[in-house]
Amino acid sequence: MKDRMEWFEEARFGMFIHWGVYAAAGRGEWVRSEERMTEETYQGYADAFHPDRFDPETWAELACQAGMKYAVLTAKHHDGFCMFSTNTTDYNAEIYNGRDYVREFLDAFRSRGLRAGLYYSLLDWHHPDYPHYGDRHHPMRDEPDYMARGRDFGTYLKYMHEQVRELCTNYGKLDILWLDFSYDDMTAEKWQGEKLVRMVRRLQPDVILNNRLEGSGEMFGSLISGTPSVCAGDFVSPEQIIPPAGITDIYGRHVPWEACVTMNGHWGYHKDDYRFKSPRTLLRKLVECVSKGGNLLLNVGPDASGEIPEEEEEILRQIGAWMRVNGEAVTGCTYAGIEKPEYGRITAKGNVLYYHVFEEQIGGIPLSGIHRDDIEKIILLCEDRELEVSDSWIVRAYPDLVFTDIGEGTELPDPVDTVIKVIRKG
Ligand code: GLC
Repeated sequence: MKDRMEWFEEARFGMFIHWGVYAAAGRGEWVRSEERMTEETYQGYADAFHPDRFDPETWAELACQAGMKYAVLTAKHHDGFCMFSTNTTDYNAEIYNGRDYVREFLDAFRSRGLRAGLYYSLLDWHHPDYPHYGDRHHPMRDEPDYMARGRDFGTYLKYMHEQVRELCTNYGKLDILWLDFSYDDMTAEKWQGEKLVRMVRRLQPDVILNNRLEGSGEMFGSLISGTPSVCAGDFVSPEQIIPPAGITDIYGRHVPWEACVTMNGHWGYHKDDYRFKSPRTLLRKLVECVSKGGNLLLNVGPDASGEIPEEEEEILRQIGAWMRVNGEAVTGCTYAGIEKPEYGRITAKGNVLYYHVFEEQIGGIPLSGIHRDDIEKIILLCEDRELEVSDSWIVRAYPDLVFTDIGEGTELPDPVDTVIKVIRKG
């Protein structure tokens, strides 16, 4: 398990792409469920979905520029529309638009050296044999009319397993399979999860899986139990939250995790949701994830034409500008095992510590957790300038702490995150 996780724990920053027929409605990917929309009404959006500006090359380019190292695309979301060619249903992109978006996505991202994976929804609001009435999420959950229509869950399971088989067979080596999600009694056993996982592992020995055959974004699952089940997956997938103290198993051992986070309040394109988080917040949250040994999978929601909204592009450009200078303090880094300083965060890679300074300091910047004799070199990353250990009289009352100065005033060269790199001896 160590080996297949290695690239993931190096990568740290990835792009989540929620894109499908729901983009045509422009009200998020849950629109059909939230508005209790019938199949017929939703069909209007499927028919209207003609993304003539879809160009995964530009997406991949943007991900690279942002310093992202991998990406995950929704191959099928809860609405059941397949963004790939499949023999299991006509409800797919090839029949509707003559394209296989999954293949084009994988080709574009792989050709830029990015790792690429697929999101696949275990739920399916299109399939006639998926529970309708009484299900907690199905668009027709409150319609007694949909109660008994001879639904055969076994038929759905075969369909779902076959689609996963197709995805694991027809697209070369997948880096991630991001299954979503379990709820109520719709969990590992019900999905025939063991069988599914064994098939996936046989077809894609190196693929890594999230933990959602056992739960959703709100659960860790058996991965942290010390005795993970076959369905435990390889990493925990906290959603819209960054775990306050990272994630460990019951023995206190590090468990790989990836926080998935939206830029505004929706995964799928929402035409009226302009509550975007600032690049500054998102960048600091990326650093926070890394400082706690985790990844950030940051979402974009391309519109129905296939374009990533301008605001999202801009956020990624700004993060990218910082990453170009300071990326080494994120990529390949992890927690430092030193308590978080008041002014920011610390990340670590081998014998190098990166002190991320978010807040201006008076009287020098304390570099906690190290001894001055252990320091080989201190570098202000954004100016590539060597700094000294402070010998000022100001810091004399704190002989156990190492301080450094970046200049005369208090102003930080990068007000979002000024990184001080400390190379330790040996
Ligand atoms: C949730 C939602 C889904 C989204 C996912 C991302 O489980 O159902 O819409 O794709 O989280 O983590």
